[in-house]
Amino acid sequence: MAFLLQNLLAQKTGKILALLLAAACFVQLVMNGSISQESWTEKKYTKIPEPTVVLVWHWPFHTEFTPREDVCLKLHAIDNCILTRNRSMFDGADVVVFHHRELQTNRSSLPQQTRPPNQKWLWVSMESPTNTKRIHQYNGCFNWTMTYKADSDIFLPYGALKKNDQPSNFSIPKKSGLLTWVVSNYRRTSLRAKVHANLSKHIDIQMYGRAAGTFLPSERLLPTISRYAFYLAFENSIHKDYITEKIWRNAFIAGSVPVVLGPPRENYERFVPPDSFIHVNDFASTEELASFLTALSTNRTRYEQYFNWRKTYTVKISTEWTERLCNICTKFHELPQQKIYHNLHSWFHQQ
Ligand SMILES: *[C@@H]1O[C@H](CO)[C@@H](O)[C@H](O)[C@H]1NC(C)=O
Ligand SMILES: *[C@@H]1O[C@H](CO)[C@@H](O)[C@H](O)[C@H]1NC(C)=O
Ligand SMILES: *[C@@H]1O[C@H](CO)[C@@H](O)[C@H](O)[C@H]1NC(C)=O
Ligand SMILES: *[C@@H]1O[C@H](CO)[C@@H](O)[C@H](O)[C@H]1NC(C)=O
Ligand SMILES: *[C@@H]1O[C@H](CO)[C@@H](O)[C@H](O)[C@H]1NC(C)=O
Ligand SMILES: *[C@@H]1O[C@H](CO)[C@@H](O)[C@H](O)[C@H]1NC(C)=O
Repeated sequence: MAFLLQNLLAQKTGKILALLLAAACFVQLVMNGSISQESWTEKKYTKIPEPTVVLVWHWPFHTEFTPREDVCLKLHAIDNCILTRNRSMFDGADVVVFHHRELQTNRSSLPQQTRPPNQKWLWVSMESPTNTKRIHQYNGCFNWTMTYKADSDIFLPYGALKKNDQPSNFSIPKKSGLLTWVVSNYRRTSLRAKVHANLSKHIDIQMYGRAAGTFLPSERLLPTISRYAFYLAFENSIHKDYITEKIWRNAFIAGSVPVVLGPPRENYERFVPPDSFIHVNDFASTEELASFLTALSTNRTRYEQYFNWRKTYTVKISTEWTERLCNICTKFHELPQQKIYHNLHSWFHQQ
């Protein structure tokens, strides 16, 4: 009998049983370590050849956080890397970091001082071009970039795979539902909402998020998703390399098989194994996709094949801004010392 159906029936025999199942499942996940959000860079000690000062002009999203100057050493084992928000250190800064969101309105937020000759200005954005406005005004302004685009000076993906030293003990979380989607920013006219609407005519999709009237607090996010066989990792906009936490965290860390809507399959395959995800474009219609998922959910052997890669790789995700920013120091001495993004806008929009 279908493994999913068994679990679904069990759940229907009573809420208490379902709750117990969920609790057991969560405990199992924690024990497997599959929910642990391990950090992205290696924690091995790295000493930067010369003291390097990274001045963050606005902390991303204007949080009040002020790093201690030794944060890179204390938290990330990167020595000789000074991360600061102290603007009086402008003249001595090797890199000044600008996160696009805080610059989006106009150029008035840029430093007014003259730039020291060898100082690098680094442009940072984790958002896609669709959600990154008024880039033109910064053409000819920056020397380096740090974004999710693989051809950035510093590539900052939402996640990455690390090869295991020995086969891992990953085990698939217990499943009690078929397919789920968690969406915070729902627009009926978006491509992902249309695909979801079409798909839901042929298969049962449990939707979570404000739009669905079922808001999930962050600590419930992964335990909830992990109970479903499949997760709709639908990007909000389609751009090369724009492969976000929707697949890395929501699907992979939770232990649910991602059904992706985003750049073409070949682009995903640059970063993740071909048999780790299902691509919407692999099917001629949403109806075919629905039948495929339904069939897959009733064949445990076939379903488990989507987890084979877990023996070889562990998923790492990047969430901490201090970690991302300290990492600039480790890249600093490898990057081109003379560079200007004359047309930042076209570089960022290039597919
Ligand atoms: C900021 O840097 C300046 C120049 O190095 C220093 O004099 C000042 O004490 C620093 N301010 C803070 C709050 O650390
Ligand atoms: C520039 O942007 C800032 C906010 O970043 C705003 O307060 C200011 O009014 C803007 N200036 C102009 C000329 O639009
Ligand atoms: C996996 O299981 C083996 C045997 O039970 C154990 O020796 C090993 O430490 C485990 N590895 C991890 C990464 O938990
Ligand atoms: C949704 O289904 C309709 C009717 O079958 C089809 O015309 C349309 O192209 C589909 N849209 C998407 C985004 O899948
Ligand atoms: C389940 O999938 C396996 C592997 O793809 C296949 O060999 C087997 O025939 C399938 N079983 C059923 C009942 O379809
Ligand atoms: C950095 O970019 C600015 C602005 O285009 C330019 O004037 C400066 O020469 C560049 N600096 C380096 C070290 O490439």
